[in-house]
Amino acid sequence: HPAAAGDATAVAHPNIALIKYWGKRDERLVLPWTDSLSLTLDVFPTTTRVRLAPGAGRDAVTLDGVPLAGEPRRRVVAFLELVRERAGLALPAVVETRNTVPTGAGLASSASGFAALAAAAGAAYGLGLDATGLSRLARRGSGSAARSVFGGFALWHAGQPGHADADLGSYAEPLPVPVRALDPALVVAVVDAGPKAVSSREAMRHTVDTSPLYRPWAASSQADLIEMRHALDRADLDAVGEIAERNALGMHATMLAARPAVRYLSAATLTVLDAVLELRRGGVAAYATMDAGPNVKVLCRGADAQRVAAAVRGAVGTAAVHLAGPGPGARLLGANP
Ligand code: PMV
Repeated sequence: HPAAAGDATAVAHPNIALIKYWGKRDERLVLPWTDSLSLTLDVFPTTTRVRLAPGAGRDAVTLDGVPLAGEPRRRVVAFLELVRERAGLALPAVVETRNTVPTGAGLASSASGFAALAAAAGAAYGLGLDATGLSRLARRGSGSAARSVFGGFALWHAGQPGHADADLGSYAEPLPVPVRALDPALVVAVVDAGPKAVSSREAMRHTVDTSPLYRPWAASSQADLIEMRHALDRADLDAVGEIAERNALGMHATMLAARPAVRYLSAATLTVLDAVLELRRGGVAAYATMDAGPNVKVLCRGADAQRVAAAVRGAVGTAAVHLAGPGPGARLLGANP
C-alpha cells in the first residue's frame, strides 16, 4: 500500500537470547536485572501497519485479521498510549499485524511484534527516533523486543540500577561479531506450538520473588556474558554454544526452584536435549537453548544445520523443524508521517 500521512508499516524478526533476560527490576519501565545477548533470526517476521485514525473513538487492533481482545489488546493500547504521550498527539490508531510465528509459544513473537510496532507507531506518530531510541521504546512493549531492533548479534544493557534516568541507560546495540567465521545457525524445533500457560511476565516476577536460585543465576549470567563476548570475538562456536546452553539451563533452574515451580520444559524438550547430546558425542557442535516454552533452539554451524535438523526430526517425529540464520533489524517498509 502507498504510504500516506500518519501511516507506517514496519517489519521485524524475532531474536533468540544466548545470554537470557529473566527478571525485571522495574516492571513499569521494563528494566531488567541483567544484561542479555541475542541473535536476530531470518525467519518468522512480523509485519505491522499503524495508521492514525482521526475519526475513530478508540484504537482498532488486529492480529492476522482477527481483532485482539483482553490482555493482548491492553498491552498494545498501553504501548500506543506511551507513543501518544511522547508525540503529544491524542489520535487513536488502526494497528494491523501479521505474524508468521506461533504467538505466545516461547518463539519470541513478542520480540518481533513489539519491535515492529515500535518502528511503525514511532514513524506514524512522528517521534523521529534513532535506533537507540527505538530500542528503548520497543523495550517498553516487551523487554526482548529491544534487541530485535537490530540485526545479527545484539547486546541489551540493563542500565545502571539507581541511576536517575534509568530508562535512558537500558537499550540494545548491535554487537560486532565475525559472523562469517562463526557461521551460526539455529535449528528451531517446535515440539508444541500452543500458547504458554504462564506468561513470561508473570513467570519472571514469580521467579524473582520466590526462587532462591534467582540471585545466584543473575550473578553467574553477568559472568557468562563476559565469557560469551570473548567467545564471539574469537568465533569459537563451541564456547558460544556451551555458554548459551548453561545460561539457559540455569534460567530454567531458577524457575524450577520457584515456589511453586514454573516449568516450561516438557518431555519432548528433554528428548531433543538428548538428541543434542548425542550429536555432540558424535562430534557435531550442537547446543540447546529454551525460552518461556517447551520449544528448543539448537545452535550449530550453518554447515551442520541439515544434519542437526535431521537428528531432531528423528528424535521427535512430531516436531516442526525450522532452519534459521542471522537476520536483519527492524525496518520501515513505508512511512510518511
Ligand atoms: O520479552 P519477554 O518479556 O517476552 O521476555 C522473554 C524472555 C526470554 O525469551 C525467556 C529470554 C530472552 O532473553 O529472550
